[in-house]
Amino acid sequence: MRRIRHNLTLTIVPVIVVAGLMSLAFHSFVQAGDYPADTTRGKTVYQRHCQACHGVGGWGDGPDGQALKVAPANFHRFSSFLKSDEELLRTIEHGVVFSPMHSWRGQLTDGEMQDVVSHIRLLAQQGR
Ligand code: HEC
Repeated sequence: MRRIRHNLTLTIVPVIVVAGLMSLAFHSFVQAGDYPADTTRGKTVYQRHCQACHGVGGWGDGPDGQALKVAPANFHRFSSFLKSDEELLRTIEHGVVFSPMHSWRGQLTDGEMQDVVSHIRLLAQQGR
């Protein structure tokens, strides 16, 4: 009897530990991207809402950006390129204080914001 119980503990404890680790891993996975980004929709959102300031190619040279005191971000700059998707997402969601980059929360859905980040990533990889 004692022997069986001992074996049972030996089996159950690792199983619980592994399950715990897996749920942790899965949890962070879900947080990183709720679903695969739709770059086509991201492009549409970008063209409609962002291009006028950030420019067709994401160089920060859109027509509406010329007159601004704070220039629109150029997504090809290292300072922008090195930011995580999460950071860009937060900027889009909350805006940049004291700049024409306002918050898009309420105007874009979470999915649209994620998609537009993927489009910005795509632009940043392309040359002139
Ligand atoms: C009215 C002009 C304007 C529009 C429209 C606009 N932005 Fe911006 N955006 C800016 C400005 C200006 C900054 C830079 C602020 C700074 O440098 O502090 C900026 C910064 C950003 C940044 C931060 C980049 C970085 O390197 O940290 C992201 C991301 C961004 N914009 C995404 C978007 C998206 C996505 C849209 C469309 C949904 C959009 N912007 C629309 C003006 C605009």
